[in-house]
Amino acid sequence: MNVQTHTVNSLLAAINDIGRDNTRGGYSRPVYSPAETTLREWFIAEAQARSLEVSTDVNGIIWAWWDMPGSPKDEASRRGALVTGSHLDSVPGGGAFDGPLGVASALAAFDVLAAREAEGSLQRNRALALTVFPEEEGSRFGVACLGSRLLTGAIDPAKALNLRDADGNTFADVASSNGLDPARMGRDDAALASIGDFIELHVEQGRGLNTEEHTDAAGRGPAVAIGSSILGHGRWRLSFSGQGNHAGTTLMVDRADPMVAAAQLVVKVREVARTQADARATVGRLEPVPGGTNVIASRVDLWLDVRHPDDAVTAMLVEKIHGQAQKIAAFEGCSVALTEESLSGTVNFDPTLTRALEKSVHRREPTAPLLPTGAGHDAGVLAAEVPSGMIYVRNPSGISHSPEEYVEHHDAAAGVAALADVLEDLL
Ligand code: GLV
Ligand code: MN
Ligand code: MN
Repeated sequence: MNVQTHTVNSLLAAINDIGRDNTRGGYSRPVYSPAETTLREWFIAEAQARSLEVSTDVNGIIWAWWDMPGSPKDEASRRGALVTGSHLDSVPGGGAFDGPLGVASALAAFDVLAAREAEGSLQRNRALALTVFPEEEGSRFGVACLGSRLLTGAIDPAKALNLRDADGNTFADVASSNGLDPARMGRDDAALASIGDFIELHVEQGRGLNTEEHTDAAGRGPAVAIGSSILGHGRWRLSFSGQGNHAGTTLMVDRADPMVAAAQLVVKVREVARTQADARATVGRLEPVPGGTNVIASRVDLWLDVRHPDDAVTAMLVEKIHGQAQKIAAFEGCSVALTEESLSGTVNFDPTLTRALEKSVHRREPTAPLLPTGAGHDAGVLAAEVPSGMIYVRNPSGISHSPEEYVEHHDAAAGVAALADVLEDLL
């Protein structure tokens, strides 16, 4: 690999202007949009500048290989490699770090390792690869971690190919126009066999490292943490149907307004979630059809995100919310239909790999804690198939999926150092 000396901040600075959303603030980088495509091209150029061998697999996952010296670059010599990576797509109006921090940190960590190899201090026993996963956020086609779900077979490719974006384009059509063959998409045993261990570095997305438990009286604490678990989570669509009509001529008593039903349900969602410690339930997206100021909607679709450590509790919460939706719909003269769009159980990361991560990270950051997260990640999907682990980098704002998501430069550097040490120790 060519030795480069980029820091994670100089790498992120190069993509700072790509996909900025001047309406929502922050970044909107949906998968296969011009912005996300530019980011993929940026990544490929960075990987090639390091002499990594780049390919895009059948599911649209980009792989950048740092093979063992003199190896034939084939499946057999790549089997059981050490793989790290993240994603470049974003939620609408998201922050700069969710995804790109993991990709840029992996590039910078490879640079650290290349320098160690050049000075003769790095011993490698297996290949390394850096991966970029498509549609991690599910912000375009509705199913989060779509690339890793396809890779592992966690989603039926037929279901994935029929997903539609807000403009009605199917995933099959969008994938084809981005050079992929829909007929070949789905579980990829050869690609899975190439992953011996998977490590994802990610911005911490809450206040996990900013609590009193992890900081001293002066507010100082570790810049990084090691992932322990991912909260089970899922997405459901609730469609309220009523009578579309004229806002001026329809008397209040004559209405069957699905917006009024949806509004009541949003408040109920909070009420139901508050009955369970550790539950989170959110309605972050609601679409009236046809959506006119002077039009009583004929239908309102709303999307529900529910998370809880116990998958049975998640199911119970969704059932309760559905029951409330039916009651409200009946009272308003409307009907309601519930569709599950995705579901992921709680994931506990591989204990042996997690202990190895702790050991490596503790050399520089002796107080780096084990941290659970409420956010979903490709590492969580991959954990069903291969040992997976995560490193989180402190987020002083504690805010994520928002333009205010933030990482200090020195914390990003600490993340790269931790990732480089982890990779070196696992090689
Ligand atoms: C992805 O970031 C999610 O947790 O929804
Ligand atoms: Mn995210
Ligand atoms: Mn992410």
